Amino acid sequence: MRIVLGVTGGIAAYKATGIIRLLTEAGHDVKVIPTANALRFIGATTLEALSHNSVDPDLYTDVESVKHVELGQSADLVIVAPATASFLARMATGLADDLLINTLLATKAPILVAPAMHTEMWQNPATTANVSVLRSRGIEVLDPAVGRLTGADSGPGRLPEPEDIVAAALALVSIQDLAGKRILITAGGTQEPIDPVRYIGNYSSGKQGIALATQATKRGAQVTLLAANVSEPIPSLHKVIRVSTAAELANAVHNELATTDALIMAAAVADFRVENAADKKLKRSELGSEITLKLVANPDVLAGAVSRIESENLVVVSVGFAAETANDGNDLQRLAEHKLEAKGCDILVANNVSAGAVFGADHSSVVVLTKTGNVTSRHGSKQAIADHILDVLGQEI
Ligand code: CTP
Repeated sequence: MRIVLGVTGGIAAYKATGIIRLLTEAGHDVKVIPTANALRFIGATTLEALSHNSVDPDLYTDVESVKHVELGQSADLVIVAPATASFLARMATGLADDLLINTLLATKAPILVAPAMHTEMWQNPATTANVSVLRSRGIEVLDPAVGRLTGADSGPGRLPEPEDIVAAALALVSIQDLAGKRILITAGGTQEPIDPVRYIGNYSSGKQGIALATQATKRGAQVTLLAANVSEPIPSLHKVIRVSTAAELANAVHNELATTDALIMAAAVADFRVENAADKKLKRSELGSEITLKLVANPDVLAGAVSRIESENLVVVSVGFAAETANDGNDLQRLAEHKLEAKGCDILVANNVSAGAVFGADHSSVVVLTKTGNVTSRHGSKQAIADHILDVLGQEI
């Protein structure tokens, strides 16, 4: 894709380098347009070297090529990051006094704007009004991240991470690379009853599975979501089946398996269940000072699906997840390689859950391994990670 990246004059301008790198590594042709003030924060040489394209923000050079029109018309996607308060105001009024705004007015491509400024400036009614004008015109304006700002202060105003900006921008260009593919995704965590009011469960929120279902749907796939006790809102999907226990999840997976092109097992499945769950509430007063619950193994749903795929010659790509407590990145990869082998799936996504990371969080870090030896890692929002997993899956499906 041809992507125009506008960089305006804020302290976060240096983060544009991360955005350029992610876009070029994904094979996109990136043309950077810094404003004059952006060049006070970052050098044109850096932007040229990383983008592999010349950088000339002067509206009045190469006049014969009508640069702003050529750049605007040839762009498939435009990103402005960071976007200052001044940029938002000029864009909202169409004040075309530099190459960047002229290019933006000349483009029909989707535009994503990522503002970054001090909290007071972001919350100022002038900025709020400019942002609503831009949004009302179909421009995607990201909310800034919350955190440390230039000085000692912190609050909403930080530029979101490059991975999140890139994921949100690419989501605007509806690449239908999964069109017609049927994808079965499990999300959430199973609950194994002890009695009618108690269960054995886990911390899985279902956010990663839902992000996968959302992104896959945007990319054209027909998604069936098996939602195990998911409390997060579920978007509109082709089909949603709610399950609770591992046995119900296993049944649903097996019912759907023959009519899917890919199975993504993002759900945390309980390995054991209570052998004889009580059908009446266990009363504390009748139990004494200790009780023993006998647990028996649940079927391994993923391994079972993989063996059926092999024995019935089904054309289904299988993706497993591994939540590991690893010491570091190398240890995580080693555990992931072991699990890929043990589960027999085509792709394995591993994340490190040491010290409570991942569960319920909006960001995580994963390493993605394929049976064919491809290893990639990603840190970012669950949406960015979902897109990366789907990129890997897209190569296999
Ligand atoms: N899984 C499954 N059925 C189970 C347990 C897990 O299908 N009974 C799936 C999960 O959905 C996940 C993958 O297997 O995609 C890895 O799960 P995990 O619990 O990390 O692996 P285990 O097999 O339980 O291995 P261990 O506890 O030894 O780490």
